[in-house]
Amino acid sequence: MTVLSLVKEAYEVKKGDTILVHAAAGGVGLLMGQILKDLGATAIGTASTKEKCDRAKEHGYAHMINYKDIPDWVAEVKKIVPEGVNCVFDSVGKTTWEGSLEAVKRKGSVIYFGNASGPVPPLNISMLAKKNTKIMRATLMQYVVTREEYEHYSNLLFDYLKEGKLTVNIHKVYDMTEVEQAHKDLEGRSTSGKLLIKTS
Ligand SMILES: NC(=O)c1ccc[n+]([C@@H]2O[C@H](COP(=O)([O-])OP(=O)(O)OC[C@H]3O[C@@H](n4cnc5c(N)ncnc54)[C@H](OP(=O)(O)O)[C@@H]3O)[C@@H](O)[C@H]2O)c1
Repeated sequence: MTVLSLVKEAYEVKKGDTILVHAAAGGVGLLMGQILKDLGATAIGTASTKEKCDRAKEHGYAHMINYKDIPDWVAEVKKIVPEGVNCVFDSVGKTTWEGSLEAVKRKGSVIYFGNASGPVPPLNISMLAKKNTKIMRATLMQYVVTREEYEHYSNLLFDYLKEGKLTVNIHKVYDMTEVEQAHKDLEGRSTSGKLLIKTS
């Protein structure tokens, strides 16, 4: 539902768009790649290992950049799309926010929706005038406030699942006693896909 609200409302993805997604092999990222492909967009992803890049490519990404080995990942994005991307979905925050503004094309959008590396610092709004960039900090919880909104996004999600259009990658099912390890794995960037905690 996070992905669907981002691609439908935060920035309405259109056929032919080129979209950059950070942490593309994560829980949100693997679903985002599949939905972007279904919408007819070209998805470029970033991730920190070759294994993660390979997995993301299996989940809809046309191009993957290892932003740990290639710190100038913006230059890599520009090699693929010299004018910049239509939109960046950035859930990493502190370490990527500035590059995301560089990677977007004139009149493009940067949608921040997470702080995996720390929050985006206060920024000077004038810097957006360089390319007429639109920015936003989005959260699912403000897209599913009413029952109608909740049902709208739930139905969209279940339609995708019923039609067999989404592969959900479960990284690992943890026992309730392993919650600490689950947090360590997530913080250690060793996971790819969803982490589940078994309650009984
Ligand atoms: N706004 C919303 O409504 C909403 C909803 C759901 C989730 N979120 C946010 O979206 C983000 C992704 O969620 P997720 O569940 O799919 O998590 P995830 O992507 O599976 O895990 C976070 C990923 O961020 C990357 N990362 C980059 N720098 C990091 C750092 N310093 N420490 C830890 N991770 C770092 C890692 O991928 P690499 O190793 O490949 O860099 C890591 O695997 C989170 O920030 C979450 O809070 C927001």
